[in-house]
Amino acid sequence: MKRLILMALIGLGLFGRLFAGEGMWIPMLLKQLNEKEMQAMGMRITADDIYSLNHSSLKDAIVLFGRGCTGEIVSDQGLLLTNHHCGFGQIQKHSSVEHDYLTNGFWAMNRAEELPNPGLTVTMLVKMEDVTQAVLGGLDPGLTEAQRAAKIAENIKILVDLAKKETDLDVSVRAFYHGNQYFMIFNQIFKDIRLVGAPPSNIGKFGGDTDNWMWPRHTGDFSVFRIYVGKDGKPAEYHPDNVPYKPAYHLPVSLKGVTEGDFTFVFGYPARTNEYLPSDAIRLIAEASNPQKIKLRETRLAIFKKYSANDSRVRIQYADKDAGVANGWKKMIGESKGIRRLDGVGRKQDFEARFEKWAESNAETREKYAGLLNAFKTNYKEIEKYTLAADYITECGLGIELIRFASQFRPMVDEANKAAQDTKKIKEFAEKLQSATAAFFKDYYQPIDYEVANALMLIYLDQQPENFRPDFVNEVQQKFKGDVKKWSDYLFGKSVFLSPEKIKSLLEEANPKKIKSLTKDPAYQYYVSLANFYETQVRKPMQALTASNDSLQRLYMQAQMEMNPEKRFYPDANFTLRVAYGKVEGFSPADAVYYEYYTSLKGIMEKENPLVYDYVVEPKLKELYQQHDFGEYADASGELRVAFAASNHTTGGNSGSPVLNADGQMVGLNFDRCWEGTMSDLMYDPQMSRNITVDIRYVLFIMDKFAGARHLVDEMTIVR
Ligand code: ARG
Ligand code: GLU
Repeated sequence: MKRLILMALIGLGLFGRLFAGEGMWIPMLLKQLNEKEMQAMGMRITADDIYSLNHSSLKDAIVLFGRGCTGEIVSDQGLLLTNHHCGFGQIQKHSSVEHDYLTNGFWAMNRAEELPNPGLTVTMLVKMEDVTQAVLGGLDPGLTEAQRAAKIAENIKILVDLAKKETDLDVSVRAFYHGNQYFMIFNQIFKDIRLVGAPPSNIGKFGGDTDNWMWPRHTGDFSVFRIYVGKDGKPAEYHPDNVPYKPAYHLPVSLKGVTEGDFTFVFGYPARTNEYLPSDAIRLIAEASNPQKIKLRETRLAIFKKYSANDSRVRIQYADKDAGVANGWKKMIGESKGIRRLDGVGRKQDFEARFEKWAESNAETREKYAGLLNAFKTNYKEIEKYTLAADYITECGLGIELIRFASQFRPMVDEANKAAQDTKKIKEFAEKLQSATAAFFKDYYQPIDYEVANALMLIYLDQQPENFRPDFVNEVQQKFKGDVKKWSDYLFGKSVFLSPEKIKSLLEEANPKKIKSLTKDPAYQYYVSLANFYETQVRKPMQALTASNDSLQRLYMQAQMEMNPEKRFYPDANFTLRVAYGKVEGFSPADAVYYEYYTSLKGIMEKENPLVYDYVVEPKLKELYQQHDFGEYADASGELRVAFAASNHTTGGNSGSPVLNADGQMVGLNFDRCWEGTMSDLMYDPQMSRNITVDIRYVLFIMDKFAGARHLVDEMTIVR
């Protein structure tokens, strides 16, 4: 019946009119749910060209880059594109004052110059299968929620174990639609990923945190990597003899560009959305948690800024940390604003009123769903205080780098404290911590952390009630008479975690007795106090509430689908491969303002300001601009375009995703969203929600004309 109505609606062409860019769809289900509409919007390829198990398809070129971004393969030699901000951590790790790749960029002019990145992986979906029946079928309806969850976990384990017997792929089972559907995912994981190229930050991060999340945008946000495999063609750990990966498919790259109204789609790994929450949850996020976190982050950012402004060493050290903190900070501001503007809470409440009416309308739905919203309400009311306390733990307690560093030693110190210590285990922990320690000290500037600790502690004391704080916070009042400076002088004066030599020799020696002595270190003790508070006062008491909310959300999802049988529902993002599609289009962010859909190099020159770090233009780029030397990368009017806006529904994790045209050719890399639409993680707005893409022609222009790395362009399949 559901199918029939769906077909009828598609037949009537209703979707064409109703469609507004919202949705992140499962590649395997495109044929069934989206293909007709995508083609009606202009797509000239088929769902089968995008995802197929019978022949190579676009999906063979899409990867999860690291743990948080998307990348795509663009040559038969495993060449991979992602964003500059996705490769930022790697670029930064290879950088020093002598080799400042962040500032100057990096270009391997041959394979031998490509730089390995231990720990970095790239994950490729091989196939997925619907296993809902095997996971949920035969569950006794009389089970309690806890029993049900245990049974599901057991079913999943059986399925995974069975599958693993027949494949050396990575196998997992993931929940969709909040536990109403399950898919088994087969992945290939590559482990030798080398850095090939990155533009200078003045290009890759042009506009910096000032322009971040905003349109009009002029960021050349890309970096280049290459996947290497063993000589047998299989994924392997780094080895100098490894060879470039030969993919089943690589994306053709189009120089034709896009114009307003063009169909586009984004193929990648969106991390998390929450489109089906009740109003109480939206209120908690947008009106309580976000504002509090925003304030706490502002404190840290101001201190980073103060010290980075005049010290280039510190600026490099804190570049990655600053970008991370600032990014979330600005996103939360945009999200809360957007929800307010949409009256998101009110809208959800209106829907809930209709929902209740529907639920009450017959005995069956009443039995299943009456009381659901009230149960949510009670839960969220209680959850609020735990959520806010947890925010303090992560943003405030762990905002102090020294404490975060000490936290990494916990498993080793715990082992050393055991009556029957396993010295081999301790050695292993110590070895692993050696690289973490080197990384920590490379980018640690104590005066920043000291000031951050003072500032955050003052807020902690002021804002969190005495009976709901970790012990070490209360200690400031008890032991140090409320004198925060005395407290921080004690912490920073005493902690051995601040001495690179001592920590290094401790790890080299791996002497259990000496490791045990860390238990008394103030930084370590504060971490333990923070962790204990979280465990006993937050996580444990909240556990039952979260579990209850999870099951309510599962029911609520099911109910929303039942209530609107003719509507197509997409599952919330869960870091699995998805397709979003929409049109190239500008938007009106505010009364009397309209934003065009694309930006160009001219705009970079307009923004140029040699005195403002975010707006410094590379001399070479300026030269190319003045000479109008854009080669084949210019548009029909001779302009060099930099970025464009479109209504593809994306979120964090979609960074680095290819943006493709009607023929499935790459026209750009997704890297951001427009600020006015960032509440799309909770509520999509067709008027305001736009993804931001760096035009592939700008990317190739930078490689070729700016960096002189034409060989990389030549490696790709270019559609002219
Ligand atoms: N806002 C983009 C994303 O969410 C880009 C972040 C990196 N850029 C920056 N200026 N911090 O990841
Ligand atoms: N920059 C984001 C990322 O790293 C993508 C922007 C968004 O959240 O849409 O994934």
